[in-house]
Amino acid sequence: MSDPTPINAPIGTRDILPGESEHFATLVATFATWAQRYGFGLALTPLFEDVGVFNRGIGEDSDVARKEMYVFEDRGGRTYALRPEGTASIVRAFVQHHPTTPWKVWYITPAFRYERPQAGRYRQHHQLGVEALGTDDPYLDVEVIALAWRFYEHLGLRQVRLHINSMGHAECRAMYLTQLSAHLSEHSGSLCDEHRDGWSRNPLRVLDCKKEPCVAVTDAGPMLVDFLCEDCREHFATVTSGLDTIGIPWLANPRLVRGFDYYTRTTFEFVAEALGSAQNAVGGGGRYDKLAEQLGGEPTSGIGFGSGIERLLLALEAEKVVLTSKGLDAFVVDTTGGAVALELVERLRAAGLSVDRSYDQRSMKSQMKRADRSGAAVALLVGPSERESGTVTIRDLRNSDVADRQQSVTLADVVASVQDYTNKAK
Ligand code: HAM
Repeated sequence: MSDPTPINAPIGTRDILPGESEHFATLVATFATWAQRYGFGLALTPLFEDVGVFNRGIGEDSDVARKEMYVFEDRGGRTYALRPEGTASIVRAFVQHHPTTPWKVWYITPAFRYERPQAGRYRQHHQLGVEALGTDDPYLDVEVIALAWRFYEHLGLRQVRLHINSMGHAECRAMYLTQLSAHLSEHSGSLCDEHRDGWSRNPLRVLDCKKEPCVAVTDAGPMLVDFLCEDCREHFATVTSGLDTIGIPWLANPRLVRGFDYYTRTTFEFVAEALGSAQNAVGGGGRYDKLAEQLGGEPTSGIGFGSGIERLLLALEAEKVVLTSKGLDAFVVDTTGGAVALELVERLRAAGLSVDRSYDQRSMKSQMKRADRSGAAVALLVGPSERESGTVTIRDLRNSDVADRQQSVTLADVVASVQDYTNKAK
């Protein structure tokens, strides 16, 4: 006999079901609208890739590649990884298909990271994001940041702060890394347990460390902004003054280096202050002007961001923003066997209304209970007398105290009458 014990979803993952999934769907639909407004088209790439896409893309020494990736061998002996983030896959697709530039795409994707689960940090989360390849025009940086900002604004978030920094390009960063390494080497004894011996593997990661000893050592050390070349400084100044021009407030954060090795020049993060200090980034991104080359393509600049849907939902809750999503328009209660309901729901749905019904020929009382629970605006009642006279009784389910709560209409008029109700309710 097979084992009858129920099996739950894996640790650090969540089922997103009706009741919550409406909010999820609203976020995706809103993002799709904004991404289209900014000229981005939808891109869908496989959830798993050759592990090299991520090792080369996000950097073999990044925490995500070293400790968090779900890597597996398929039955043909190839080594794949589940996508831990969206950017490397999109750039892999760009290199493979040579689209004309600028190439601007948006995506919605699950991302998989073997992290220590906690509120706002999951082993499977979902990201909405964009990537734009083919130009290093700083006004593109402004537009990409603006898209995220307007999206958050439209959702109703008011306590999101934009932190921004420049990582410089390879040469500025090489100079900086020499100085940073000298500083860390001198003070390595004062770093946190993880970085005391491991800092030299990737010194920039120490800037990312939130532990107090690392913050103290790096605060007293050199900062990347002071090593930017003239071009990088000018690029950054154009981005920040562009943000000023279109009224997007920003905060310079010289410690912001982000977790992946592909970043160059502009990097940014959106911090939801309503979420407190842990897991409060609702989005982040930046330029990656060397990534296409790292993945075997022609030198091509790029920039993008990803925004965590679960974190956005937490931030909306923390700011007490209620996302409205349209519920059912009508619920059909047919106590004559269900055949009238079959035709009725089809007709109403064809007219663009959202309609549900009950099944299994239940009693009037039980069907009405379902109608009430469904959240529909009206119930459409079909009993023996209605069937006889070719009518339907419409009952208002949301305003129980109105005098004309219930009205009888002919089957021919039912679509128009329900539309009247739902228009009035808007
Ligand atoms: P990221 O900062 O690693 O960047 O992730 C983007 C967003 O995904 C975060 O700001 C956060 O909202 C959410 N997120 C990340 N990890 C988790 C998790 N374990 N649980 C819940 N939410 C999470 C990237 O992934 C880059 N690909 C962004 C980018 C696009 N850069 C350039 N283009």
